[in-house]
Amino acid sequence: MSFSFSRWQPALLFDTLAMLLVHLLFAGTALAQLQGRVGPTTSTAAKRAVKVCSVLDHGATASQSSDIGPALVAAFSACKSGGIIYVPPGEYGMSTWVSLSGGSGWALQLDGIIYRTGTAGGNMIYIEKAKDVEIFSSTSQGAIQGNGFEYHKDGKNGCRILRLAHVDSFSIHDIAIVDSPLFHLFMDTVTNGEVYNLIIRGGNKGGLDGIDVSGANMWLHDIEVSNRDECVTIKNPSQYMLIENIYCNWSGGCAMGSLGGTDIDIHNIHFDKVYSANCNQMFMIKSNGGAGTVHDCSFTSFLGRHNAYTLDIDANWSQLKKQSGDGVLFRDLNFTGWHGSCSDGNRRAPINVMCPDAKPCYNIHLSDFAVWTEAGSREVYKCSNAYGEGGCLKGGGSGGASLAAYAVTTVTVASAPSGWNAPTMAADLTTLGLSSSIPIPAVPTSFFPGATPYSKLAGGAAASSAAAKDSGK
Ligand SMILES: *[C@@H]1O[C@H](CO)[C@@H](O)[C@H](O)[C@H]1NC(C)=O
Ligand SMILES: *[C@@H]1O[C@H](CO)[C@@H](O)[C@H](O)[C@H]1NC(C)=O
Ligand SMILES: *[C@@H]1O[C@H](CO)[C@@H](O)[C@H](O)[C@H]1NC(C)=O
Repeated sequence: MSFSFSRWQPALLFDTLAMLLVHLLFAGTALAQLQGRVGPTTSTAAKRAVKVCSVLDHGATASQSSDIGPALVAAFSACKSGGIIYVPPGEYGMSTWVSLSGGSGWALQLDGIIYRTGTAGGNMIYIEKAKDVEIFSSTSQGAIQGNGFEYHKDGKNGCRILRLAHVDSFSIHDIAIVDSPLFHLFMDTVTNGEVYNLIIRGGNKGGLDGIDVSGANMWLHDIEVSNRDECVTIKNPSQYMLIENIYCNWSGGCAMGSLGGTDIDIHNIHFDKVYSANCNQMFMIKSNGGAGTVHDCSFTSFLGRHNAYTLDIDANWSQLKKQSGDGVLFRDLNFTGWHGSCSDGNRRAPINVMCPDAKPCYNIHLSDFAVWTEAGSREVYKCSNAYGEGGCLKGGGSGGASLAAYAVTTVTVASAPSGWNAPTMAADLTTLGLSSSIPIPAVPTSFFPGATPYSKLAGGAAASSAAAKDSGK
């Protein structure tokens, strides 16, 4: 591969304009939850101008029976101080896992498809202690196929696909992550990152998380997840994250938790425009004992269809072993603009706010909340130890000092709340595989009814100019 520098001049100019736009956006409300810029600090074009390290020049062959692992490591070593590690279009097998540690100013351009063939545990691709990093496909057709069904059909699990730890100023975009033997994308202790135009499709059972993230100043947007567990889930500790235009197309749903331990510190997280169909929940916060605080978070414009749970704050979450501590305090949480329907709102309360006895939650605000039941003609809301406004929340208690615990109170809703009916996505998933191969889907161009993704697809028709291809945000 060779790219002449001059060819990318227009792209560099475009980058500058794109950066300017990003900075203007920060001044507005859209990114109010973030603390500063996100994404790599040098553009794709600038990295490409430094060096391109193709795996084909480092021992890879484009064949599903090959092992791309060693070539990926070699290409990474050659480009980790600046440049593009390039996986050209083609199909590659991967039988040995890679750990890409350190470096800065590099990108992993995955235009090919990597198929897991190895059987080790751990992570197929582990990226750590790096900064100014971009992981993307310039054609939007790059993918990692985990072939998890080979484990799941026998009731087993295997490796995770992609894990990032201690990575700063990065982006992941325009790739498909499919059928992981275990978690799909796991990011811990990451900062100033942007994840977008991503599709994750996993098997139909628990434990195959879509995206789990902990860290600070992260913008995750325009993402679709299908699986049976976490869609986009916040882990401890996390702060200043904006998560928007999320399509949980048959999933567990979005969540915070599970919140184990006594050092819970999650705040200033904003979920906006989350569409959930056929999920376990529209949003869940799950803890059981423990200590610490979740505060100043908002959850706006949630649309749902045929989900088991809707808004579920569960401080007695039975799937987490009881932790030491009086319970995690939840305060200053806003839920606004929730519409749609749930499977059976009489059996599973669409508003279910169960806070710890010793740490009643407060300043929980529910407004414009209209989710109706698909079964029967009534639904209930349930609250315990929960103070705030709306639903079944008990008024008062905004100071939080010595709030009294109270047993579960129930509010029965006997007619459909006005405005509950919400638009659907064109093609909601009706089945999800587990024991047979899951095809690699295309990265979608819509993730929430009526919302336009923030960035065009890198490989989309409208993005076919070199400039758009290399916006390098
Ligand atoms: C929640 O809503 C209230 C009232 O509109 C507002 O004062 C507060 O800042 C909001 N909090 C968050 C975390 O969005
Ligand atoms: C949660 O469990 C505790 C005991 O561990 C119990 O006292 C409390 O009532 C339970 N809360 C709810 C809402 O079930
Ligand atoms: C949701 O999943 C189904 C089944 O795989 C698929 O046909 C549909 O296109 C998906 N929806 C979108 C918008 O990608």
